[in-house]
Amino acid sequence: MSFPKSFLWGGATAANQLEGAYDVDGRGLSIDDVIPGGKDRMKIVQGPDFDWKIDPQYTYPNHEGIDFYHHYKEDIALFAEMGFKAYRFSISWSRIFPQGDEVQPNEKGLAFYQNVIDECLKYGIEPVITLSHYELPLYLAAHYGGWKNKQLIGFFKHYAETVIDRFGDQVKYWLTFNEINSAAGFPFMGQGMIAKTGANDKKNVFQAWHNQFVASAYAVKAAHEKDPAIQVGNMIIYATNYAYDANPVNQLAALKFNQGFNYYCADVQVRGEYPAYSESLYQQYGFTGADLDRTPEELALLKKYHVDFISFSYYMSSVTEVTGKDDEKTAGNMLGGVKNPFLKESEWGWQIDPVGLRIGLDQLYDRYRVPLFIVENGLGAKDTVAPDGKINDDYRIDYLKSHVEAIQGALDDGVPVMGYTPWGCIDLVSASTGEMSKRYGFIYVDMDDQGHGTLARSKKKSFYWYKQVIASNGDDL
Ligand code: BG6
Repeated sequence: MSFPKSFLWGGATAANQLEGAYDVDGRGLSIDDVIPGGKDRMKIVQGPDFDWKIDPQYTYPNHEGIDFYHHYKEDIALFAEMGFKAYRFSISWSRIFPQGDEVQPNEKGLAFYQNVIDECLKYGIEPVITLSHYELPLYLAAHYGGWKNKQLIGFFKHYAETVIDRFGDQVKYWLTFNEINSAAGFPFMGQGMIAKTGANDKKNVFQAWHNQFVASAYAVKAAHEKDPAIQVGNMIIYATNYAYDANPVNQLAALKFNQGFNYYCADVQVRGEYPAYSESLYQQYGFTGADLDRTPEELALLKKYHVDFISFSYYMSSVTEVTGKDDEKTAGNMLGGVKNPFLKESEWGWQIDPVGLRIGLDQLYDRYRVPLFIVENGLGAKDTVAPDGKINDDYRIDYLKSHVEAIQGALDDGVPVMGYTPWGCIDLVSASTGEMSKRYGFIYVDMDDQGHGTLARSKKKSFYWYKQVIASNGDDL
């Protein structure tokens, strides 16, 4: 089957990883502004002493990012040249509400996103907006303790209503919380909680999820009341999971991994109710559902305002093994797990598995029966600029080509796939390493890990490849 005519080819970014201008035009700090750059950033934030402060001993590459704030016209023109039908970006909540708990929005922040949206629409590019992409206003993390605090529901509701009301006439696609399930391993990014504010107590993580589910339902309500044609998606990491072998014990563990990691959040956000296995999951962490603060009104809201589609990131698959074999572990995105001997991996140990994407698409559609949107996928790699100025990123083309073929396979299986927006369509700061040198883009940005560079943009070989893919609607790979 060919790709549908309406297929949303495009690319994806997040405010905190590319905008820069972190203190410009009234913007408040977000949690990402105090997370140091460098490969130890995850360890530092997860340490017992981390306390949401800028520390002069570290660098913070995202403060400048790739300065999209001042280059958005040039960048969107390049996206248009590739033929993008959609551009997924996030709104930095702290540009609109600098602390997060104000009543009046910052008009300068709204004006910036108005300009970005207008620029996209000028080229016929559909904006796909993520409301929260690992960039909670810092004040809400430092003073309210992050998402375990129910007051954040009201603050998010007001923020979502403000931007949906302002932009909902022009923007048809909205996503609520980026990779909401990542809090299973990294509650500081998605939930703004650190060791000092209870991130290591799983009950807090599950309470924070509940609060986010309710907040997400309010965003769905605001969007549908604004215009029933607006579509809102959740956003999860989907890591297609395999049991290590046919041993039923490993098969059961893989099923439990799927429930706990891949499905728990989506079950609530798509089906509108907590899944049957919830209690056994909570008990595994030493609490029960009765310990969570969930009111009947909130549960009714979840039921009524479930999302319209599922969006997800897919970079790799994972393997579950609990029978004590001493197999090599992978570095993995968020996950770790056992190495799959059938797969190659990226320089960062992310196992490359295009067939896993087809399996994931089939599994998600079988389970939820709603349209699916792949809003992140791609290969992080160190690119080199040849003496003639060219960037020959054939490895990236190979990765993307095999994943587009996998989507084609899922379409043949009858799965309604709405679109494909590869991650970091222009080079930006990496979320896990906080560095520029892990690049995903079709567009190269001259900036290194030490903050040296002209910020000049240039087209990689993959730029021309993707342009041809879009022009042929996926026929010419
Ligand atoms: C996803 C995130 O986990 O993966 C992005 O939504 C992130 O924010 C992307 O950048 C790639 O990860 P990384 O660590 O290579 O930047």
